[in-house]
Amino acid sequence: MTRQLLSLLFLASALHAGEVPDPLVANDGTKITTAAEWREKRRPELVELFTREMYGRNPGRPETMAFEIFDRDVVALDGKATRLQIAIYPGGKPGPRVDLLVYVPNGAKGPVPAILGLNFSGNHAIHKDPGIRLTESWIESKAAPDHKATDATRGSNASQWPVEEILSHGYALATMYREDVAADHEPYFGSGVHPLFPELQKGDENFSTIGAWAWSLSRALDVLEKEPVIDAKRVAVFGFSRLGKAALWAGASDQRFAMVLSNESGAGGAKLFHRGVGENIERLTTVFPHWYARNFKKYAGKDKELPFDQHMVISLIAPRPVYIGSAQEDTFADAEGEFMAAKSAEPVFRLLGAEGLPAETWPPVGTSVQGGIGYHVRPGKHDVLPFDWQQYLAFADKHLKPR
Ligand code: GCU
Repeated sequence: MTRQLLSLLFLASALHAGEVPDPLVANDGTKITTAAEWREKRRPELVELFTREMYGRNPGRPETMAFEIFDRDVVALDGKATRLQIAIYPGGKPGPRVDLLVYVPNGAKGPVPAILGLNFSGNHAIHKDPGIRLTESWIESKAAPDHKATDATRGSNASQWPVEEILSHGYALATMYREDVAADHEPYFGSGVHPLFPELQKGDENFSTIGAWAWSLSRALDVLEKEPVIDAKRVAVFGFSRLGKAALWAGASDQRFAMVLSNESGAGGAKLFHRGVGENIERLTTVFPHWYARNFKKYAGKDKELPFDQHMVISLIAPRPVYIGSAQEDTFADAEGEFMAAKSAEPVFRLLGAEGLPAETWPPVGTSVQGGIGYHVRPGKHDVLPFDWQQYLAFADKHLKPR
């Protein structure tokens, strides 16, 4: 059969409604059968496809980027941790500033692995620690009607960030506030890092907000690489919901991340669009027009005919471990669709010599399955609960701890 005919046959099957495209079939229709072909041919194709059609182009690491450690408290959290706060100026100083808050467990014998993630409400909201600098960015809180962070908003998001428990497993925790990076409210692209790169807003492959969040995680990793107490080769990237969508793309596009933890990232995160269950592209691209590149809007109403899907983003993380956490009542995020995406990425993990997802069918509610890919659906609503973190930490202990 000629190459052209193969390619036509592939296109015909990819366009079959509801059928998930095979990550191991290249753009020219050929089957990828070796790790080298994946690395040299298919992986770059997919990174380019998702950059162009979904997340948009980013500016890479700006040469002018600067950072300053403005706080180092070696007896933070009752002496349990060293707290570092680092002002990152992605375009140089002066200019937009993103604060990276880092807690490092005290008493470690060498550099420690870390969990890095963006937060929803400000660094000061993840813990009541009065030493955390209040963000100057816009915040959304009943306690702050003028959208300005105050002491009253300290710790308001602490239930989702079990800082002491993470430290007790030997991990550092590093976090940044989404609004320091990019405006998640109107006017979109009006504050944070986007005004630094006006050229990247032109056209349909624009530097999107989820693209910027993912990019900021890579910039934070640049900074962590310079911090001797952190083992930058063992950094897991974590995110919940829209920030989980960003964590997945960060881990998929930047192979320095050692692991990805996606908590209920749902549509445009870990779930499959092809099932047509839960939040769809139409809603995603109209209610949140800034999250993805403009190109993605052309797929509204075509969820079941997409020429790609989110299992391919998960497969870009292979062979590095990835955990997908779902919640039973989070119907928007389609828990079963998140499982099926993880499962559909498995052939790539296997090809690269990693373990897949050791479950043939959707696991029972409240059980965690952990191979090279991890998965659970827990009871309850869209949230980050202690059960979720217990699984992520067990998964990290399995993969990130030295043997
Ligand atoms: C909305 C949106 C989801 C998103 C969630 C969140 O519910 O529809 O796609 O994950 O917000 O980020 O909390």
